[in-house]
Amino acid sequence: MSTYFGTPPIETDRLILRKFELSDAQTVFDHWLSDERVSDNRISPAHQTVSETIERVTKIVSEYKSEEFCYWAITLKESGELIGEIDLYDFDQATDNCQVGYSLGFQWWNQGYGTEALRAVLEIGFRHMNLHKISASHNTGNPASGRIMSKAGMLQEGIIRDMIRNAKNQYKDCAIYGILQEDYLKKNANAQTYILNFI
Ligand SMILES: CC(C)(COP(=O)(O)OP(=O)(O)OC[C@H]1O[C@@H](n2cnc3c(N)ncnc32)[C@H](O)[C@@H]1OP(=O)(O)O)[C@@H](O)C(=O)NCCC(=O)NCCS
Repeated sequence: MSTYFGTPPIETDRLILRKFELSDAQTVFDHWLSDERVSDNRISPAHQTVSETIERVTKIVSEYKSEEFCYWAITLKESGELIGEIDLYDFDQATDNCQVGYSLGFQWWNQGYGTEALRAVLEIGFRHMNLHKISASHNTGNPASGRIMSKAGMLQEGIIRDMIRNAKNQYKDCAIYGILQEDYLKKNANAQTYILNFI
């Protein structure tokens, strides 16, 4: 059975993952949610106004009262700058399986931050939350997402044709990836824990 701790702070070599705050909304808008280069790889369209982002961040913050809500702001350890988000969602109590999602602002792509955040969240999910399986999918036109899943140890399980229709009304094939807890723990027996102030 899995255990939930909400959204504990996580520290990696270069990142701090923390809860979002209402005051983050403008930065979230500026750094990724208003940017089509990011939203083209997500289901929802880019935000046109910061009020859409305020609404979204307000909803995220209100959901932290649930222990089963795992939604991290990704910040740079050195500067505190907010660069992206990563979350565990769709928890299925019957299987202890869930999904992972992530996005980074364009200027921080291809510097290893996505892989670093994903590895940390897999560690929390498997070693601390006792999840059974973590899955994700990416549209096949977004190979960087598949690459970070591979680097974090997730395996591609297949491709679903026309799995999503994006905000521009285009159907996209998606590659499905997953990793089982037993495989993760075997391969990462000596991984360091990343949670700060973990209870
Ligand atoms: C997906 C995303 C989080 C990756 O984060 P990131 O910090 O750039 O990832 P990393 O730097 O850790 O790794 C990126 C890898 O993809 C590779 N890559 C980047 N663009 C690529 C491309 N067009 N084709 C193939 N590989 C590519 C990089 O070379 C790197 O692999 P390497 O380390 O072997 O060289 C980021 O691109 C993003 O936010 N994209 C928009 C939102 C999104 O796609 N969310 C996920 C939806 S499924």
